[in-house]
This record gives sequence, structure tokens and C-alpha cells, in this order.
Amino acid sequence: MRFAFLLLSFLVAFAVRAAEAEATPKLLPQPSSMQMGEGFFRPSADERVAVVDDGSREAASRFIALVEQSGGPRLSFHSTGRIRFLRDPAVSAPEGYRLTVTPERVEVRASTDAGLYYGGMTLWQLLQGGRIPALVIDDKPEFGWRGLMIDSARHFQPPEEIQALIVRMGQAKLNRLHWHLTDDQGWRLPIAKHPELTSIGGCRRPAGAAGTDAQGQPVRYCGHYSREDIRDIIATAAAHHVTIVPEVDVPGHATAAIAALPKLASTPTPPTEPSAYWGILPNLFNTEDASFALLKDVVDELVALFPGPYIHMGGDEAVKDQWKADPRAQARIKALGLKDETALQGWYMARVGAYVEAHGRRMIGWDEILDGGVPADAIVMSWRGIDGAITAARSGHDTVLSPAPILYLDHRQSASAHEPPGRGEIVTWKRLHGFDPAPAQLTPEQRRHILGLQANMWTEHARTPGYRQRMIWPRALVVAELGWSPPAGDWAEFGPRLLARMQRDKALGHGFNETPLAPLAALSTDGRAFTVELSQPAEIGTLRHTLDGSPVTPDSAPVAGPIRLDRATEVRARAFLGSEPAGPESRFEVNAATLRNRHVADMELCSNKLPLRLEDDGETDGERRILWGDIMQTCWMWRQAPVGGMARVAATVGSVPYNFSLGDDMRNVTFAAPKTPAGELEIRLGDCEGRLLASLPLAPAVATRGLTRLEGAIEALPGPTADLCLRFTQKAADPLWMIERLELK
Ligand code: ACM
Repeated sequence: MRFAFLLLSFLVAFAVRAAEAEATPKLLPQPSSMQMGEGFFRPSADERVAVVDDGSREAASRFIALVEQSGGPRLSFHSTGRIRFLRDPAVSAPEGYRLTVTPERVEVRASTDAGLYYGGMTLWQLLQGGRIPALVIDDKPEFGWRGLMIDSARHFQPPEEIQALIVRMGQAKLNRLHWHLTDDQGWRLPIAKHPELTSIGGCRRPAGAAGTDAQGQPVRYCGHYSREDIRDIIATAAAHHVTIVPEVDVPGHATAAIAALPKLASTPTPPTEPSAYWGILPNLFNTEDASFALLKDVVDELVALFPGPYIHMGGDEAVKDQWKADPRAQARIKALGLKDETALQGWYMARVGAYVEAHGRRMIGWDEILDGGVPADAIVMSWRGIDGAITAARSGHDTVLSPAPILYLDHRQSASAHEPPGRGEIVTWKRLHGFDPAPAQLTPEQRRHILGLQANMWTEHARTPGYRQRMIWPRALVVAELGWSPPAGDWAEFGPRLLARMQRDKALGHGFNETPLAPLAALSTDGRAFTVELSQPAEIGTLRHTLDGSPVTPDSAPVAGPIRLDRATEVRARAFLGSEPAGPESRFEVNAATLRNRHVADMELCSNKLPLRLEDDGETDGERRILWGDIMQTCWMWRQAPVGGMARVAATVGSVPYNFSLGDDMRNVTFAAPKTPAGELEIRLGDCEGRLLASLPLAPAVATRGLTRLEGAIEALPGPTADLCLRFTQKAADPLWMIERLELK
């Protein structure tokens, strides 16, 4: 019910400047132990950095580069120097380091290259305003697995984007990049013996209008990585102490592979191209020898390309209909004496796992691998909540926590109309920060099987680099904190630290989703006065406001509950941490006209089955508007709409392709029958079975690309307020009509 109107949220610099007088430096992740000393080390303009070997030179060079990139002094190497990167076997934790700063010298000590690198990353954060506070830090991570997954199958990222992600991960002390390289919509991994996997499996046709160009020609959406790309990416990962965990998903999520190599199919009518649909598709690899021969070639290639100890083989969401109908699969079940298709998947994963492990690598699978008997040494990635992790740890298997929705970065971060596309359930920064990576159900012995945690960036709705960046950051910084130094506990302590880290990273040119820092307003009226409820989704700092049109300052009144206004008012709001802004200012014109004009982000959905923020179907590339609704039931409620005196209505509407594979659930996606051939937008009184007040035919919208403004008469109501329901009539789900805004006139 938030109304973000006339929002001035464009990259207002919320400078949280180096707080000179501050006693404790704001670091993220928080070190395990930090003792403050007296005074400061002040690097000179030609300060020298001493190193002892190649590893320490590498770590120091990363530190030097960051200092320079963020506008600090230009440091150089020398055989002696006041800043020293030293080998110290007494610092025994594999990724740990000891940092000692006095007014005379700085020492980073570690026994490993990774430890020296992380020490340098902390030192970079400590250098503020030309000085480093004297202190001693003894630091090591709580978890060895501090991961991020990127889905390169649904949308493809250029190699440079993957490399930039890895660099940023290293700077945040994240150390596992799980690379989801294959899925129904694309195969992005080069396999020398089977070039079709990328030449055919690497291209799909986008759904809806985006699948055809301006000349009426089909658009191909293609992408895969070359061996060279992968080698470069691995080199970057090594330099930033990130282990890449490649994933090839079997036996489900296999449409792209089967389209490329139909002999792998479990059905006599295999798909002929990768899918443009999101969701769970029926296509499974078959259980014939040819299928295993292919997988051997794939695993051989993975082993040859990727040096890390882990190979992820998927195992998720393999619906068994095709195996049930495939006589060859049924014969396998019989010959092996298995109970059913789930046990057949267990046998299948065990066979794949044995091959992976014969190459000296450990297999990882999504938590479905528990269902059919999990291979002994396999790692279980728990995504359907944390139950998989509990089961795995209790039965002695190592596990990684990656539960949806909280660690799924495709969820939106606030209710703002300015969030990128994604899933509707809100995972705020604060909610993510409250995630507990040490479930109380486990004994200390069992808890040792939790290798760590991982956030997953699924990219169905993250078409552009900008969307991906905003969905990942800053939430990946929160994940870094949870993985390095839980328990995190108090948001009031962490929020300012997160903001300080964002500010530092911005000096490196790193982008973030700053939308949750911009205040929102929920506006309502009883016909006599207006009520404004202000909030800042990030909940960082003190939210302040003005009602006289003047800019909000650190001295403006704090927001203390709903504000009642009896006349037209410009409301401004902004959060502050002390005297520094904690985000941009938002401005809201509150008057009778703006209250009669409502964005869909400030309406209620009639249902909450599969709510999504989706791009409209207008353009292939470039800017697209984002629409919001439940794709199982497109219907919106405008509660207490100010209907008094209305005679006409204007609606901005658009459509999205219905490229969702919902299986049997599709039976529950129904629409009221249209009265005109193209259908119409209906506005009804009260709930959606109420009296029809207006009906706007969609014919003009069908004829245009992008959004269309429809206008028409609406039945007058006595007022002052009434609930309105908005829904579309349509014959079939594709394209799906959605509303962006409704205005009562
Ligand atoms: C998954 O989200 N299917 C692992």
C-alpha cells in the first residue's frame, strides 16, 4: 500500500563520509576480534610496501590497486617498507590473517595467500581520510563456503560481467562462485565432442513480442563461453581466491541439451529448440547408455577446464512423467529392482557421482538428491528451505544452506515501484540479515557438516547487467557478513555498517540497488483529510520529514507515526544517520488529484499465488516498463479509492508474454470471458464479483507495443471512498494483460 510518487530517487549521493572522529572503524564483514590502539598510521605519498614472496606480492598488489582506485596514495613495492605483507605460520586458519597497525608501521600476517589477500581487503577498508587507526585484528571466517550462484542459462552474462562479479566477491570475502551453466533455456558450456550443445543449445527465441524484430524476423538470443573465456575467468577467480563450482543440471532442466542432441530424450517427441518458458519443464535425459556416455564427455570437460574440487550435477525439479511413460526407463527400473522413478533418479545420480568422484572431485546436488539415496561423499545444497540441510547433516553429509526465498536473490527487496523485475515476496536486507546459518535443531557435531551458505541469482527476470547488479548488491554483502562473522544479530548495528561499505565500494565504481533507501509513502483519505504513512524500506537511520516544501535536513522532524493533513501538501522525507543522509530524498505531492491517481505498486493483489514483477512485452532490448501482478490470477484491489465525484477513468495497461510452465496448475489460471474480441479491463465495486462500474476495451492496446492509456466512462458513486477491483477479461493467458496505473477523473 505504498505510494511512491514524484520520487527523486536518482542516484542522490548519500555521502556517508569517513567519520574522522569515530572510535571503531565500520568494517564489513566484521572481524572476529579487533582491539583498538592509540593514534593513526598515515601513509605518505610515496609509501612503500614490502613483500616476502610471490603470494604476498599478489595480495599486496590487490591492496595497492584498491587504494589507488579509491583515490588514495600511490603505493609501491620495495624490499623494505613501513607496510609489510608477511608469512606467519602462527596464523593457522586457512583464510585467517593478523593485522597490526601502529603509528609507525602496518603488518599483514598470514600463513596462506588467501589470508594475506583478505588482510589486504580489510586494510583497504580501514584506510579512510588518509589514515589507518592503530589496532590489532585477528580474523578468520566462520564458514569455508561463502557462496554466490549466478544463472548463466536463463539469461547469458558476457565473460567480463562474470569476471567483475568475481572481483567484487573477493573484495567482499565471498569465496565460492556456483556457476549454473545449463538449463532448459540454454547450454553455455563448450563440449569439444558435442558442438551442437552450444550451437543449438545455446540459442533460444525470446517469448512474446520480443521474439520478433522490427522487420518481422525471428530474434535469436544466443550465448556460450569459449574455453578461452573460461580460462580467463578461472584465472581471475584464482587471483581473488574464489573457487568456481560449475553446474551441469541433470536429469531435469535438460531441454536445451535434448534439443541439441535428441538421442538423449526420454520422449519420442523431443523439443527442437531450447525453451523460452520459465518454470519446470517435463524434459528429462533418458537412462540409456548414450545418455551416460554424453555425461562422461561433459564431466571430462568440466574436470579438464575447472581446477576446483567440486562439480555440481543439479538433480532438482526432475518431474518424472517422461520416465513413467518411457518403456526404456521402466525396463531399467525393473532390471535394477528399483521401487520407482525417484529411486531411478537416485541410481542415475549415483552413477554420475561415481564418475565425478573417480576423477577426484566431489559431487554436489540440490537437495532432491536426498530423495533417491544420496551418494556417500556428495554435498547437499539445501534450497527447499533448510530441511534438506538438517536431514543431510544428521545423516553425516556435508551441506550448504541456500534456502528459498530468503537466499534467492530473484526476490524483490522492497514494495517500491522502482525495484527491478523479480519474484513478489519481499526479501529485505534486514530480513536476509536475520537468517541463521547455524540451525538450532542440529547438535554441534552435526553443525560441522554445514559448510556454509550461498545466495542464488536466478536470472529469468534479470535480463540486463543493471538488473543483475541491483539484485545481487548489496544483498551479497549481507551474505558475506553471515558467512564470515555470524551471529549478526542487531540490524541497528549492521545497517550503518552496510551503508558505510556501500559508500566505500561506490568509490570503486560499484553499483547497488539503492531503491530501498528511498522513503515510500502510503497515502489515503477519508474524504475530509489525507493520511500519509512514511517509511524507508531499508530501515537504516532516522526517517525525517518536512511539510513546507523545504529539503529535509538532519534537524527536520523525525517521523513518528501517520501524518494527517487537511490541505494539499508537499511531503518530503529522507533518512539520516547522525548528520549524514542515509539514502535519497523522496517527495510526495499530497492532494486530491494525486490521490485519485494510483500506481499498481500501491494496490493490493487479490491473491498471492505467484506474484511477479515482469517486464512489459514492448521491446527486445533497452528500457522496458515493469508490471506487477499474480500470474495465477491477474486481479488488483484499490482499497478505499476516493471515488466521490468521479465520472471518467484512465488506465495505463500493458501485456507480458505468458511464458510460464506451470504444469497441472495451469488449470487454475482462468479468466472471465471477454465481451469484445480483444477483451477488456473491468472495474468492479468491492470484490471482483461486485457491480461492473467500467469496462475499457483492450482493442487500442492490442494494436500498440508497450503501454497504452485507455480512457472511458465510469459509473458515479456517492463516495467519499469505495474499494475497487480491477481485472482483465481474456480468452487465454498469452499475452497476459496487466495494469500499471489507474486514474479517476
Ligand atoms: C532450484 O531452485 N530449482 C534449485
